Amino acid sequence: MKTSLITIAYIAASALFILSLGGLSQQETARRGNWYGIIGMVIALVATGAAMNVGGLPVLAAALIPGLIIGAILASRVQMTSMPELVAILHSFVGLAAVLVGFATYLGPHGQMTSAEKNLHLGEIFIGVCIGSITFTGSVIAFLKLRGSLSGKPLMLPARHMINIVMLLVTIGLGVAFFMSPNEATGQWPLLAATVLTGILGIHFILAIGGADMPVVVSMLNSYSGWAASAAGFMLSNDLLIITGALVGSSGAILSYIMCKGMNRSFVSVMLGGFGTEGGTPSSAAGSGPAGEVHSIEAPGAADLLQSAKKIIIIPGYGLAVAQAQHSLAEVCKILKEKGVEVKFAIHPVAGRLPGHMNVLLAEANIPYDIVFEMDEINNEFDGTDVAWVIGANDIVNPSALDDPASPIAGMPVLHVWEARDVIVMKRGMASGYAGVDNPLFYNENTLMLFGDAKKVVDEILTAMRA
Ligand code: TAP
Repeated sequence: MKTSLITIAYIAASALFILSLGGLSQQETARRGNWYGIIGMVIALVATGAAMNVGGLPVLAAALIPGLIIGAILASRVQMTSMPELVAILHSFVGLAAVLVGFATYLGPHGQMTSAEKNLHLGEIFIGVCIGSITFTGSVIAFLKLRGSLSGKPLMLPARHMINIVMLLVTIGLGVAFFMSPNEATGQWPLLAATVLTGILGIHFILAIGGADMPVVVSMLNSYSGWAASAAGFMLSNDLLIITGALVGSSGAILSYIMCKGMNRSFVSVMLGGFGTEGGTPSSAAGSGPAGEVHSIEAPGAADLLQSAKKIIIIPGYGLAVAQAQHSLAEVCKILKEKGVEVKFAIHPVAGRLPGHMNVLLAEANIPYDIVFEMDEINNEFDGTDVAWVIGANDIVNPSALDDPASPIAGMPVLHVWEARDVIVMKRGMASGYAGVDNPLFYNENTLMLFGDAKKVVDEILTAMRA
C-alpha cells in the first residue's frame, strides 16, 4: 500500500514537472508553471521522506533544512544579472552529488545480482560518476568565470583538442579496468582515477570557452547536471530522479540549441571553445568603441522626440537590467500610451544574460504581454517606425553582424533598429557589449546617443514628460 502511494506520488510529481516546463515556455502561463514546479517538488520531497526508514529521517532533515534555508536566502538575494553564476554553482552541487552517490552505491552493501545486472549496475556507476565529475568541476569554473574571479577569456592551450581526446581515451581505458576489477577493493582505484581525470577534463573544457559563449555553457552544464541526476536515479533505482534528470537534461540541451541559434553559433563550435579568437577579427573594443563622431541628445530632447512619435519600438538589453530601469520605463510607456503613441517592445532571444531575462524584467514592471514581441515577429516593423529606442543593449542591435563577415558575431541575427526613422541609443559611454565587438550603429546619421545610467536617464525623461 505504502509503495503504491509513493509510486502514485512520484507519477504526480513527474506530471507536474512536465506541466511546469510547459507553463514556463510562455509569459502568460509562467507563474502557473512555477507553481506546478513548486507543488511537484513538495510532493517529491514528502514522498521521498515517506519512503525512507524512520531512522533515516533525522539525517534527511539535517541535510534538507539547512539546504532549504540557504537556498531560500540565496535565491531571494540574487540579482537577475547574477543568476547565471548562481545556476552554475547549483549545477556543481548536482554533479558532486552524482559522484558521491556513485561511490556510495559502489562501495555500499548491495544484494545478489546476475552478471547482466552487475554489468548494468557498474555501467550506471561509471557513467554517472564521470558525468558528475565533469559537471562539478566545469560548473565551478563557469561560476568563477561568470563572477569575474577567473578571466572570461578562453584559455587556448596548444593541442587542446588532442589533450581532451587523450583524457577521454584514458577514461575509457579506466572504465575497462573498472569493469574487469574482481571486487570493490580493486575497482575503487580506476573509478577514483576516472573521477579525477574527468574532473580535469571538465576544468580544461570550460576554461577554453569564453566571451558570449559562457551563458550557452551554463545551459549545457544544466543539461549535464540533468543527465548526472538521471544517472544517480538509475543507481538508486529512483524513477522520479530518472524522469526529472531526463527533463532537466533534455530541456538544458534544447535551451543550449536555442541560444546557439540566437547567436548564429554552432553547438560544436561553442564546445570547441575560443570565442572571438578564431575566424573573426579579435575585438578592438575591450572597453572602448570604434573612433568616429556621434550625435548625442539629452533627456528633455529625447522626451520630446518620443512624445511626438506615432510609433516607437523599445529594445531592452543588459544595461536596462543592471540599472533596474524597468519600473520607470513602464511609467514612461503609460504616458506615451495616454498621448496616443503606439509602443511596442522587441525582445532578442539572447538579450541580457540569460534566456527570458528581458521578459522577466518587463513582467516585473507589469508591462502588458501583448506589446512585447519576439525578434522574428517584429523585425520587419522597424521600417515604418518613428523611433527605435535602444536601452542598455548593444550586441543585439549591431549591424556588423549582418554586413561584416570578419566580425566575431558575423551571422548572428540582430534587431534591424537602424531601419527606423530615428534611433535613440541609451548607454553610459561608448563601451562595447558582452561580445567585445565594435558597434557601427552608434555612428549612423539617424542615431542619437543618450549617455548615462539607464535608470537615471529614464527618470529624467519621465520628469521631462510630466513637466
Ligand atoms: P550587451 O551587448 O552586453 O550590451 C549591454 C550594454 O549595456 C553595454 O554596451 C553597456 O554599455 C550598457 N550598460 C551597462 N550598464 C548600463 C547601465 N547601468 N545603464 C545603461 N547602459 C548600461 O547586451 P545585449 O545587447 O543585451 O546583448 C546580450 C549579449 O549577451 C550578447 O552578446 C549575447 O550573445 C550574450 N549572451 C546572452 C545570452 C542570453 S541567453 N541572454 C546567452 C549567451 C550570450 P556602457 O558600458 O557604455 O553603458
